[in-house]
Amino acid sequence: MRILGIESSCDETGVALVDASGTATPRLLGHSLHSQIEMHQAYGGVVPELASRDHIRRVLPLTDAVLAQAGLSLKDVDAVAHTRGPGLAGALLVGSGVACALGFALGRPVLGVHHLEGHLLSPFLSADPPEFPFVALLVSGGHTQLMRVDGVGRYELLGETIDDAAGEAFDKSAKLLGLGYPGGPALARLAQEGGDEVFRFPRPLLHSGDLDFSFAGLKTAVLTQVKRLAQAHPDGPATTHLADPLSHQQRADVAASAQAAIVDVLVKKSLSAIDATGLKRLVVAGGVGANTRLREQLGAACRQRGVRVHYPELHLCTDNGAMIALAAGMRWQAGLGHAKSADQPYAFDV
Ligand code: KG4
Ligand code: ZN
Repeated sequence: MRILGIESSCDETGVALVDASGTATPRLLGHSLHSQIEMHQAYGGVVPELASRDHIRRVLPLTDAVLAQAGLSLKDVDAVAHTRGPGLAGALLVGSGVACALGFALGRPVLGVHHLEGHLLSPFLSADPPEFPFVALLVSGGHTQLMRVDGVGRYELLGETIDDAAGEAFDKSAKLLGLGYPGGPALARLAQEGGDEVFRFPRPLLHSGDLDFSFAGLKTAVLTQVKRLAQAHPDGPATTHLADPLSHQQRADVAASAQAAIVDVLVKKSLSAIDATGLKRLVVAGGVGANTRLREQLGAACRQRGVRVHYPELHLCTDNGAMIALAAGMRWQAGLGHAKSADQPYAFDV
């Protein structure tokens, strides 16, 4: 059972092929990715129209590359999977349109995969895969969720953000500091030169007793701090960017203190979820899972409690096709793939 997976929900075009035969964890046969970061950088964020058009340009050459890596051709593909959401509508339509066209032409089923399920299961492609059940911390640009995961398709939401996602908090703080897009990695880099405790930013809902998050207040706190520092500067407030008058060290201190606030909350709530469920395994997935401070702090706290932490391979933390092909494969193996019927002759699950 070879499944081609296509990811096109935002600013990465990813294509991958897995072998999901039998019951063993699907094996990656080929994988390729094109990041649009350079294209969007000039605009300071993702431009949806440009993203969709670039997915159109990339998706078929990437598919060719993946098949070449695997030494296979299209006729060897048994099902085509694609990200069905959430994401940018136009961008998603490219992946689903191509997947449906391929499925139709090949007479194969088309499997729509939830983007977050892809992230959630992505650690199964690592050298140290988790076992069910586990607690999952999903931290991406659009979502921050804690889940109890008992098996494929057996997910219980334990808590989530009531406003901004953790990735958004990184991105917005980075923007206020005049760092480029994408903000998260840039802020994390700058934070290495700053002090975590120089500014005390809020840790909302830290003691709320539930497993929800809130990050919107952090943006306001960072904005207020940047303004204060800019106004105190002898040359007066900003010229082109609010953060212009700040010294490199001041920016680094703001970055480190903001990162510390976000990470503190993510660690504390993850530990609360572990305590609440009594589980001894934690999976961290989504773009923010690449953050070094988060990995260090979670690692230390979990070691103390005898909890194992699992991550996707670093290059599979952000969006990619491998996680979509994998999730489709695991769903198929779990009997959650769609069979053809009179109502659904093409077995499209979009
Ligand atoms: O999972 P992802 O690639 O896309 C979504 O599904 O949203 O996550 C992207 C998010 C962005 O907010 C980005 O700034 C953040 O992950 N990110 C990071 C790091 N690498 C990516 N945030 C903090 N530290 C990082 N090293
Ligand atoms: Zn994602």
